[in-house]
Parts: sequence; structure tokens; C-alpha cells
Amino acid sequence: MFGVEIKGIGISIPNKKLTNFDLEKIMDTSDEWIYQRTGIKDRYIVEDGISTSDLALQASREALRQAKEVKNIDYIIMATNSPDYIVPATSSVLQGKLGISAGTFDVFSGCTAFAYALIVASSMIKSGLAENILLVGAEAISKYLDWQDRTIAVLLGDGAGSFVLSRTEDKNTGILDHNVGSDGTKFDLIYIPAGGTKEPFSEKSLHEKRIYLKMQGREVFKNVVSLIPQEIKKLLNKNNLETNDINLYVFHQANIRIIEAIRDSLKIDSSRIFSNIEKYANTSSASIPIVFYEAFNKGLIKKGDLILFSAFGAGLTWANILWKL
Ligand SMILES: CC(C)(COP(=O)(O)OP(=O)(O)OC[C@H]1O[C@@H](n2cnc3c(N)ncnc32)[C@H](O)[C@@H]1OP(=O)(O)O)[C@@H](O)C(=O)NCCC(=O)NCCS
Repeated sequence: MFGVEIKGIGISIPNKKLTNFDLEKIMDTSDEWIYQRTGIKDRYIVEDGISTSDLALQASREALRQAKEVKNIDYIIMATNSPDYIVPATSSVLQGKLGISAGTFDVFSGCTAFAYALIVASSMIKSGLAENILLVGAEAISKYLDWQDRTIAVLLGDGAGSFVLSRTEDKNTGILDHNVGSDGTKFDLIYIPAGGTKEPFSEKSLHEKRIYLKMQGREVFKNVVSLIPQEIKKLLNKNNLETNDINLYVFHQANIRIIEAIRDSLKIDSSRIFSNIEKYANTSSASIPIVFYEAFNKGLIKKGDLILFSAFGAGLTWANILWKL
């Protein structure tokens, strides 16, 4: 058994900024409504012609530059819900653009995808199956939004974040434990109704806007705030840890009210949470690597710290990961 080290990190944020005031001009919403209910002020979206693999490429180049001593990447694993194509996997497109030889596959499990991919990549490295893995969470999710649907368009943004993960002899570095789950009976709380095999793309689905992401926000909120604190508590108890033994909680950035509800329920000290949802909105599977990157670059975490990654999203899926830096 080996440990897992984060050798490089990188992010990519698109150039085009959309503020809440910009959204007021295109739909019936307000800065006040959005900010009060979500904590979001701005989001960045890709311009025409830019796709998920372009964002992934930029973030990955930065992470690989930082991890310059890493010579071979065994796998490129991509977490995304907004692939360049339905087939092939976007990780293959990214591999072609990077020009490095590696095995590739995508993880496609809602906003939890990066966390799931981190668990998979870590187990491959820990077991000795792989030495170095490039893990990317990237989304051009704005392309799946109906910009007239205020119930979801105000919540999301585009972006990407990459980790270079490498084997280390110190087996107490990296993933220490985790818990995951899914409640597929609630698959339609966040979903794109048409375009898959259940309801193939058609003129009708286009006309009825069933090719765009739909969400029952209130139901998602209720489910998440009751479930996630219990699951985090279970993971901490199992590892004989108290809430404030964790140096930093790296939460999926969906809504500041959700993060605050989890914080209050678990009595987490606010100094142990870093959030950047105000700037980027919910970037789906890119949110965890982006928030980790910013926390790291602000000096909020250092080698030896205990991190708790916590994610939830479409499925409904969730994952909590206890990580030693
Ligand atoms: C989406 C969310 C912000 C909505 O907040 P809410 O307090 O539950 O609001 P509701 O959906 O009950 O809507 C309240 C009112 O605001 C209106 N409304 C909805 N979206 C609006 C918007 N963008 N701007 C202005 N008004 C809006 C609704 O139509 C409703 O009006 P009504 O009272 O006249 O019927 C909140 O439920 C949420 O964040 N849920 C979690 C979503 C999430 O994080 N999903 C991703 C998980 S990965």
C-alpha cells in the first residue's frame, strides 16, 4: 500500500463574466434574490467555440507545470457533466490535446463527480496500479442551461480544476477514509430529460426545452442539508475525530446557505471553511478543485493538514473524503 500526494494543482476560469445585474437584464430575477438565497454574485461562462476540454487543458497544463518532476501520467481521469461529445469521453479529447500517452476515462456522477474520481484515482495509486494520475473536474455547463429558466440559470457557472496525484511511500498521506452514497429514486431532482436513450433528442424535445438542465431546487436543498451533516458525522466518528480536528472543509460550492446549514448543524468553526461561491457560482464537478486551489494559494492549508472534501449533486449522489495533505 502507498500514499497519495497532490503534486500539482491548476485551474481555468473562462473570460466572460456574468454578474447578477447582467442576469437581471435577460430574465425576471434580481441581484438581491440571488445573493440572499445563494451567496452568488458572479459567474464566468465560456464563449462560443470554447468547450469543456479547452478549460480542462488550461487547468491541466498549470497543474502539470507545477508537478514538473512527474514524468509519466498513467491515467487521465475527467469528472464532468458537460462533455465535449456524448462519445468519446472528454478525457480522451484532453489527452489528445495534451499530447501525453495515458489511459483515459470519464466519471459522470453529477456535482459529486470530482469527489468520486478522487476516490477512484486514489485507490489506483494506493494499490500500486498507477503511479501518477491527472485528475480534472471541468464544466462548460452553461451550454446546458436555458437562459430563460431563472430556477437554475442563476446558480451555475463554468470552470475547471486539475490535480496531479502521485504515489508516495508515506501511506498516511492522501485518502484516509470516505463514505459515499446515492438515492437514484430522486434522479429527476436534477436532470436533463431529453438527449439520452430514455428520450432521444427530437424537434419536440428541443421545442419543449427538454434538452436543458432542470432542477427542483427546494427539494435538493432539503435533502442535502439533512443528509450531509449526518454522513460527515459518521465519517468523523468512525475515525475518532471531532468536527474541529479537520483543518479545512472543502465543500462543493452549490449554495452558501447549504454550507452554512451544514456548518451550523455540525458546529464547525467558520475559520475551517473556505468558500468562493460568490465569485464563481456552482461550477459543478469543477468546484472542489477550484476552491481547494484558492484555499491552498491563500495559505489556508499546508502539508500535514486534515482536509474533508464533501460533495453532493445529481443522482442524488454524495461523497465525503477524509484526506491528509
Ligand atoms: C434554488 C434555490 C436558491 C431556491 O430558493 P427557495 O427559497 O427554495 O425558492 P423557491 O424555489 O421556493 O422559490 C421562491 C420564489 O422565488 C421565485 N424564483 C425562483 N427562482 C428565482 C430567481 N432566480 N429570481 C427570482 N425569483 C425566483 C419562485 O418562482 C418562487 O416564487 P413564488 O413564491 O411566487 O412561487 C434553493 O432552493 C437552492 O439553492 N436549492 C439547492 C439547489 C442546488 O444547490 N442545486 C445544486 C446541487 S449540486
